[in-house]
Amino acid sequence: MRVKIATSILAADFSRLGEQVREAEAGGADWIHVDVMDGHFVPNLTIGPPVVRALRPMTTLPLDVHLMVESPERLLPEFAAAGADRITVHVETCPHLHRTVQQLRELGVKPGVTLNPSTPLTTLEEILPYVDLVLIMSVNPGFGGQVYIPSSTDKILRLRQVLDARGLTGVELEVDGGIKADNAAQVVAAGATVLVVGSAIFNQQASVAANIAALRRGIASACRDENL
Ligand code: DX5
Ligand code: ZN
Repeated sequence: MRVKIATSILAADFSRLGEQVREAEAGGADWIHVDVMDGHFVPNLTIGPPVVRALRPMTTLPLDVHLMVESPERLLPEFAAAGADRITVHVETCPHLHRTVQQLRELGVKPGVTLNPSTPLTTLEEILPYVDLVLIMSVNPGFGGQVYIPSSTDKILRLRQVLDARGLTGVELEVDGGIKADNAAQVVAAGATVLVVGSAIFNQQASVAANIAALRRGIASACRDENL
């Protein structure tokens, strides 16, 4: 299966967001990752449904919305109506996670669940058969440009084993935080199917397209290693 790149717009130039999303699509991104922060669950405040609505006509790529907010169930209808294709909620914010996932399905959105670095995989045990995606946070959520937490690789590996053992091979295994061209291979080799990348795509060093191409080369080296 081809590994997908979800470009996080958190690192983009917000004064020309539509243009940056078009650059990402033209450069070969697979999904647009939208980081929503509420200043409560995480110590940062970003964007809401109006930005998703504004981006919807700018791209044909799926909009992958990552909700880092308390009580996310209150916001789901608005994000769905704004054009989110996928919505991922934190297990730490959802005491009634099964209900929240059902709510997403009823809204016609692909449900995802995510874990902070310190939250164990065992919290996913009952919900796995109901979701389309699991997101492993490889940094503490709240900010772009942080360093990948090395123990995340083992967590990805263990989740891959659980998904395979339970026959849940269609569930996307997404990883978010600190991914760059030089560590993408280890994330993919551990079993990720989607890489969220922000600051390694939107930066001053190279164009969006060149950065995505560098990530693809990093991913390709993991695929070569696997074939050895
Ligand atoms: C962190 C966000 C990430 C972040 C990734 O809270 O969920 O999506 O923007 O950014 P980089 O790739 O810069 O770590
Ligand atoms: Zn994110």
